[in-house]
Amino acid sequence: MTELDRKDLLGLEGMSAEEIELFLDTTASFKEISERTVKKVPALRGKTIVNLFFEPSTRTRASFELAEKRLSADAVNISKSTSSVVKGESLRDTAENLQAMKIDVIVIRHAASGAPHFLASLLDASVVNAGDGAHEHPTQGLLDIFTLRENLGDLSGRKIVIVGDIAHSRVARSNIFGLVTLGADVTVCGPPTMMPVGIEKLGVTIERNLLRAVEDADAVNLMRIQLERQKVSLFPTLAEYASVYGMNRETLRHMKPECLVMHPGPMNRGVEISQEVADSDRAVILEQVTNGVAVRMATLYLICGGAQREKVLTDEEEVEAPPANREAV
Ligand code: NCD
Repeated sequence: MTELDRKDLLGLEGMSAEEIELFLDTTASFKEISERTVKKVPALRGKTIVNLFFEPSTRTRASFELAEKRLSADAVNISKSTSSVVKGESLRDTAENLQAMKIDVIVIRHAASGAPHFLASLLDASVVNAGDGAHEHPTQGLLDIFTLRENLGDLSGRKIVIVGDIAHSRVARSNIFGLVTLGADVTVCGPPTMMPVGIEKLGVTIERNLLRAVEDADAVNLMRIQLERQKVSLFPTLAEYASVYGMNRETLRHMKPECLVMHPGPMNRGVEISQEVADSDRAVILEQVTNGVAVRMATLYLICGGAQREKVLTDEEEVEAPPANREAV
């Protein structure tokens, strides 16, 4: 598979292993661009992308913006507080107005699960889901899987443990869909009040005890407690959560020495992860962030037509370049 056969990236659910591998392989080829002195290629020259962030974000937003700039796309950023949403404009009207300005891609983060899907069905422009409620966060899932693959190689049969607030975590869901499709052995661990009913139907194992869960793991991915999404209190105190499900020096002792520690950020140091684990050499948390830019470059490139578009660009340039320019070349 060399081309993507979809207009949008809404989630990893239902994506084939071949498609996931196309994203991962394309990411690998884009990663090197960010190491260059001049971090820019013309791959998306002439494309217009709108980043529509209706929820707070540091990493994801900066990462999409950098990916767009490094691919030479023109990008516009809109956040909820500075948009006409505060004047009562609907998501549909916002999106249709942006489309009327002839944009090519909308990257959207929204508190409502399904918001990107709604836009995708409404618009000709491509839609990339940058996190919708507690549903999915496909580019985070892909960058976590890319980081795992870089460190562990083939993921089939590898034990990956996801710990924390599984019920409210879109990162956990995207990881589960992608990892299970690639044949990894996924275990979820967290308080019963934060474990979705029927999660085992997604092909994962539930382990309530953290030390047993991490025992023979190849990687442990820690999820933040999503207090902003919890409508009722689901555990007594943060200190109690940290003592039962937090990863600390003691937990590290129960893990294989080469087991990776991951976190999508933002970290709540002292809650799901202790200072020393976050800063230990087991942690690949900043590698995840580096890979995030490459994953977003690959995603935008594939969504915009990939190699097919590059071919068209090259042909057009050859046909349309004025004679003077050709001589100069
Ligand atoms: C995550 C998110 O927003 O879903 N962060 C991210 O995108 N890197 C996880 C979180 O907020 O805990």
